[in-house]
Amino acid sequence: MSARISLNGTDLDLAIVEGSEGELAVDVTKLRAQTGFVTIDPGYSNTAAARSAITFIDGEQGILKHRGIPIQELAEQSSFLETAYLLINGDLPTKSELDSFVGRITRHTMLHEQLYRFYEGFPQQAHPMAVCSAVVSALSAFYPEFLDPRTPNQVDAAIIRLLAKLPTIASLSYKHAIGQPPIYPNNSLDYASNFLRMMFATPAEEYVVNDVVARALDLIFILHADHEQNCSTSTVRLVGSSLANAFASISAGINALWGPLHGGANQKVIEMLESIEAGEGSAQDFVNRAKDRSTGTRLMGFGHAVYKSHDPRAGILKNTCHEVIAELGVTSRLLDIAMDLEEIALSDEYFISRRLYPNVDFYSGVIMNAIGIPENMFTVIFAIGRLPGWIAHWKEMHEDADFKIGRPRQIYVGPTDRSFVPIEDR
Ligand code: CMC
Repeated sequence: MSARISLNGTDLDLAIVEGSEGELAVDVTKLRAQTGFVTIDPGYSNTAAARSAITFIDGEQGILKHRGIPIQELAEQSSFLETAYLLINGDLPTKSELDSFVGRITRHTMLHEQLYRFYEGFPQQAHPMAVCSAVVSALSAFYPEFLDPRTPNQVDAAIIRLLAKLPTIASLSYKHAIGQPPIYPNNSLDYASNFLRMMFATPAEEYVVNDVVARALDLIFILHADHEQNCSTSTVRLVGSSLANAFASISAGINALWGPLHGGANQKVIEMLESIEAGEGSAQDFVNRAKDRSTGTRLMGFGHAVYKSHDPRAGILKNTCHEVIAELGVTSRLLDIAMDLEEIALSDEYFISRRLYPNVDFYSGVIMNAIGIPENMFTVIFAIGRLPGWIAHWKEMHEDADFKIGRPRQIYVGPTDRSFVPIEDR
């Protein structure tokens, strides 16, 4: 199969590339050399930037699979670090491979003591994403021996340190913001429990980790672990394509995730639920406003650029949300409001005809809110979850036989010839 196009009287056959799940693409790699034409695709929504074997999404059917394994099976049976191993290495680990991977990550959770002083330079009100991206970038100053993306043992050492240290870095950004002293990691705890303890323990009081809460957080990490070529992952790949080191590339990904169009939506969901709770209109009023384009309001946590039947991650989180609320013995007004909103929207013709369903962010914010995670840390939790995906794509790109520095073309639309005008004549 090929695609024939005719440009300036020249007929050209373009090869068709087929993915393992039947996805089809037109190969335009020779187009410019053979015709002088390039393709234009703002937002790259019709451009496959790479062949990738990590994650498959079928948005029409609501399918998400990592290395071929459905997200539902990983959510039910795996742990975050096992899923991270799968994403990064391609296969599920054996028991001894997993023990070794988890053991190495656990041994590297502490930060260099000098890095703790780095935090003192940040204003207390600094956004934790700004702090996290800066500290992750600073890791490259502390590990000059692990910076070469083409030396496997250096890459491996950098990957272990990133996975090990991001929860420590993230919890410290929170402790700094609230003026509490750092809590050092406790390596007898699992990944999510260790993070919860570093967030919520103080030197004055012991913190007992609730297993249901730790499992819920681990699940949130799993459900965010990868989503193929999204904005932050594409950023990590593009930065990495210059042979920038792993720490610098991941730091760039954190910055891309920070934007409200990407990782910031879960915070917006809670703000919406809180405004309904505060009496700024009923759930029905909010749905009505979201349907009226002139208000510029959207039902946050609804709709998805890729999923058009359902977001498979949303249902899993809804069940977990109920479990966490029951375990904590709290009544969550926000959860009640979220369920009201969902019920109203799902039976409304506007949402049905546009195929708008709850997405991953709709319930994750309610869970994090119930756990006591502040809103400005929601995107940081997303970053910890997404880290294995960023790493897996960065590594896959470097191992790809078709590796190239990322360098899109453009169509220049600015002025053509103009002469320089001396400043006194302007
Ligand atoms: N509330 C009300 N109307 C909506 C919504 C919404 N949440 N989402 C889409 N629509 C309408 C939109 O106005 C348009 O209507 P019309 O056809 O009359 O012009 C139609 O549905 C299609 O919208 P679209 O903008 O073309 O859809 P999209 O697929 O490009 O946008 C989206 C996807 C996620 C940006 C959008 O649904 C949205 O803004 N949702 C709210 C924000 C949100 O929850 N974001 C988190 C995304 S999940 C996180 C992740 O996976 O990274």
